[in-house]
Amino acid sequence: MSPDNTSPALSPKRVSIALGERSYDIVIGSALLDQPSSWTGLPDAADALIVTNTTVGPLYASRLAARLDAHHRRVLQVELPDGEAHKDWQHLNRIFDRLLEAGCDRKTVLYALGGGVVGDMTGFAAACYMRGVPFVQVPTTLLAQVDSSVGGKTAINHPAGKNMVGAFHQPARVICDLDLLDTLPPREVSAGLAEVIKYGPIADPTFLGWIEAHIDALRAGDKPALAHAVQRSCEIKAWVVGQDEREGGLRAILNFGHTFGHAIEAGLGYGAWLHGEAVGCGMVLAADLSARLGMVDAGLVGRLARLVEHAGLPIRAPRMPPERWLQLMRVDKKAEGGEIRFVLIDGLGRAAVRAAPDALVREVIATHSAAA
Ligand code: NAD
Ligand code: GLY
Repeated sequence: MSPDNTSPALSPKRVSIALGERSYDIVIGSALLDQPSSWTGLPDAADALIVTNTTVGPLYASRLAARLDAHHRRVLQVELPDGEAHKDWQHLNRIFDRLLEAGCDRKTVLYALGGGVVGDMTGFAAACYMRGVPFVQVPTTLLAQVDSSVGGKTAINHPAGKNMVGAFHQPARVICDLDLLDTLPPREVSAGLAEVIKYGPIADPTFLGWIEAHIDALRAGDKPALAHAVQRSCEIKAWVVGQDEREGGLRAILNFGHTFGHAIEAGLGYGAWLHGEAVGCGMVLAADLSARLGMVDAGLVGRLARLVEHAGLPIRAPRMPPERWLQLMRVDKKAEGGEIRFVLIDGLGRAAVRAAPDALVREVIATHSAAA
């Protein structure tokens, strides 16, 4: 970790997400958990429920509860087991059980304290409990601060597929306290960086250059660098979601690298590679496919591969038969009528969703797969 980790608190920045009556702020800074101003102006309610997991709860839940005591008559807590494997009905029900056994009413505010798994589950519980209650995102991973806590996608997994059961439900606020990232394992930091990198090629070449220049600082946990990365990522996501909340079209660009990435995750079995690792490698393949289709300069492929590798992420795809890749990519949510659709770079800083000939996709897979 760099010396900057111990630098004085950064003044908080706010990014607004404009969705009419569902608009809200993303607050980004250090020491936010303990600052009273982070928590003022949120929905007033007698009861609050902190949803967290067995890793994050012992680290931060008592500090959050101490803050919330000033705003709610009761601050309850439920601690779920850690891991994607528990993002299911059974564990979602644990949230409802806790709310109902405590007699929580329809104004109760849920607080998601954790990474994307806790955030997605808490958001879905909030969308459903008594037909909808407010919730606040307190993301504790880099991936959650730059992506999953923002934009209102909530879900649990089904044995047939990831995030297959869910709802759009926007949080009342997102509080990105950068200090919470101090305890994040380096592998999770790298996974989060994949989702930071993706915003460059799809929306902002200047940001891509900035990430290249600051990748070591980001990996080392440098707070000013993290603050800028989270802020710019959230600004771009807010811009996209503000135009296309329910993914009628544009929002799909946020899935750059995800079609190849989901095939890696599903093909190897969930958990073998982290989501961010698969997305990092997937972006290299998607950039190459874009180049082969003549949509972007071939130089982007090597440039992106160097950055992804520098972020601590794999750039060689696992060996799987090409037919298996194609089969897995056909169950992607963007597929239409069995046709795989990729997010491709259409000139650096712009993305488009397109189909591609299978032969070209096979070439890309062969080029980037690990040697036997
Ligand atoms: P995660 O929630 O599993 O967290 C990763 C690991 O880090 C876990 O073991 C967790 O307990 C631990 N952890 C979290 N915060 C910590 C901290 N501060 N200190 C120490 N350990 C900590 O994974 P993730 O990468 O945050 O999120 C992945 C999930 O997000 C997936 O389920 C994915 O589907 C979802 N997702 C959702 C969206 C969306 O728009 N809703 C977008 C991207 C990803
Ligand atoms: N993470 C992609 C989205 O929110 O649409």
